[in-house]
Amino acid sequence: MALPTSTRLKDGRWAIIRRAQPDDAEAWVSNVNAIGAERIYIMTEVLPRSVDEVRKQFGDADPRRELWLLAEVEGTVAGGADFRRGIHTKNSHVVGLGVAILKGYRGIGLGDALMRAGIEWARDVGVRRLKLGVFETNERALALYRKLGFVEEGRLKGEVVLDGKPVDEILMALTL
Ligand SMILES: CC(C)(COP(=O)(O)OP(=O)(O)OC[C@H]1O[C@@H](n2cnc3c(N)ncnc32)[C@H](O)[C@@H]1OP(=O)(O)O)[C@@H](O)C(=O)NCCC(=O)NCCS
Repeated sequence: MALPTSTRLKDGRWAIIRRAQPDDAEAWVSNVNAIGAERIYIMTEVLPRSVDEVRKQFGDADPRRELWLLAEVEGTVAGGADFRRGIHTKNSHVVGLGVAILKGYRGIGLGDALMRAGIEWARDVGVRRLKLGVFETNERALALYRKLGFVEEGRLKGEVVLDGKPVDEILMALTL
């Protein structure tokens, strides 16, 4: 899939899926922090990198080793995903990924579109495996990953505490 690409959403609007550029750093940080503040979906609470660091990261990204993707709806950066290959020769065939959509834009197809674009990129650059971690309570994310062919490979018992309760982190992977 050539990027950028556009996709029709379930609500009839269109989304543009594209590589993040240095100028997107502010929106990226703001979105991750907003989703982190919801506290129940992603490990990050506040991104440990500054906007300038993220800007540099986007500018320096090696397109065969990492993919920083954005989903834009009517000019708003509504979600993003990162796909990063292992940094060693022995694990450069594996991609670790994360995906997160802003509240108000979920359930209309953005996560699906970002994941499909990332999987296609992974295929194109010769990656053999994509892996991720997801909290067992995150039903929408689990449904999305299973639909795309990810399978559970392991479980970290009580890895996080959400709303005062221990929750497992499920490790999933997709073999290409
Ligand atoms: C999890 C997340 C990435 C999914 O992306 P999304 O854009 O909301 O999901 P999509 O609209 O693309 O739906 C993808 C699939 O999820 C499932 N799904 C959608 N809405 C759902 C819901 N309310 N409950 C359960 N499953 C649901 C369906 O299987 C759907 O596929 P289908 O439409 O073909 O049936 C997104 O909701 C999100 O970012 N949530 C907050 C942050 C987060 O949880 N990130 C992932 C951490 S592991």
